[in-house]
Amino acid sequence: MGFVNIAAKKENDMDVKTFGVIGAGQMGNGIVQVAAMSGLNVIMNDIAPQFVEKGIQTITKNLDRNVEKGKMAKEERDAIVSRIKGTVELKDMASADFVVEAATERQDLKFQIFKNLDGICKPGVILATNTSSIPIGRIASQTKRPDKVIGMHFMNPVPVMKLVEVIRGLATSEETFKTTWDLSVKFGKTPALANDYPGFIANRILMPMINEAIYCLYHSVGTREDIDTVMRLGANHPMGPLTLADLIGLDTCLAIMETLHDGFKDSKYRPCPLLRKYVEAGWLGKKTGRGFYEYS
Ligand code: CAA
Repeated sequence: MGFVNIAAKKENDMDVKTFGVIGAGQMGNGIVQVAAMSGLNVIMNDIAPQFVEKGIQTITKNLDRNVEKGKMAKEERDAIVSRIKGTVELKDMASADFVVEAATERQDLKFQIFKNLDGICKPGVILATNTSSIPIGRIASQTKRPDKVIGMHFMNPVPVMKLVEVIRGLATSEETFKTTWDLSVKFGKTPALANDYPGFIANRILMPMINEAIYCLYHSVGTREDIDTVMRLGANHPMGPLTLADLIGLDTCLAIMETLHDGFKDSKYRPCPLLRKYVEAGWLGKKTGRGFYEYS
C-alpha cells in the first residue's frame, strides 16, 4: 500500500459527511444501508420514484429483521433510515462529498452517468464505481477528474459480505485510493486492492467458475440440483454456482463474461450459450422470479 500520509487521511475522513449512491437496486440499496449504518448521511438516486421507494423498503425490511432478532434498537433503525434521502434528480449529487455509482452493468450507461456526475459534483469529489468488470480507466476517461475515479466493488448481499474490492485505475491518485480504502473500513468491510484489468480479481475468478457450471448444465453433465450440491458439499461453497448466478442476476453474469471475453480476446471466457438464451428469454434469476430455479 506504500506510504500513508496521516494528515491527509484525517482531512479526508472529515471531508466525507454526505455519501451519494447512484442506483437503488440490489447493490445500490445495500451500499446505501451500510453507509447510513456507519453514520453518514446518504443520498440515494435512481431514475424513477418506484425504484427509489423499493430501495428504501428493502433497507427498512433488512433493518426490521435486525430489530426483530434483537441486534438493533428501534431508535437506531429510525436514526439510520432518517439519514437516507431518496431522489430521482441526479443534480442532488451536488451536495455529496463522495459518490459511488451502482447502476446496471452497461458501459454506455456508466459513461453517461460519469459524464453527468463530473459536471454536477463539486471539484475534488471522488466518483467511485461499483462496476463488476468494466475497466476503471475507461470510465475515468469520460471525466475531467480521472485521478478522482476509482473502483469500489461491493459483493452481494452487501450488508452481509465482508469484502470491498478497491480498484485503482492508471490515473487514480494515492489520496483517492486512501479515502476509498478508509471508507470501506468505516463501513465495517475488509478492502482488498486489485489492479485495473477486466473483471479485476473477484469476477475474473468467480464468473468463469459460474460459466463452467452453466456449461455443465448445457452439456447435461448434471442436473441443476446436482451441480449445486457438488459445489456446496464438495467444495464447501455457501451456495451452489447456479443458485449464486440467480442471486447475482443472469444479465449481470452475461455482461461480466462479455467484458472478460472482449477484454482478453481469450476463448476461455466465452459465455455459455445457455446463459445467453436465459437472458434473452428474460429469465434473469431471483429478481425476475425465474432463472435456473423458480422463485415465488
Ligand atoms: N440482505 C441482507 N441480509 C441478508 C441477505 C440479504 N439479501 N441474505 C441473507 N442475509 C443475512 C440473514 O439475515 C442472516 O443474518 P443473521 O446472521 O444476522 O441472522 C445471514 O445473512 C445469513 O443468512 P441465512 O442464514 O438466511 O443464509 P446463509 O447462511 O445461507 O447465508 C448468504 C446467505 C450470506 C447469501 C450465503 O449463502 C453466501 O455467502 N452466499 C454466497 C454469496 C456470494 O458469493 N456473494 C458474492 C456474489 S458475486 C458479487 O456480488 C460480485 C459481482 O460483481 C457479481
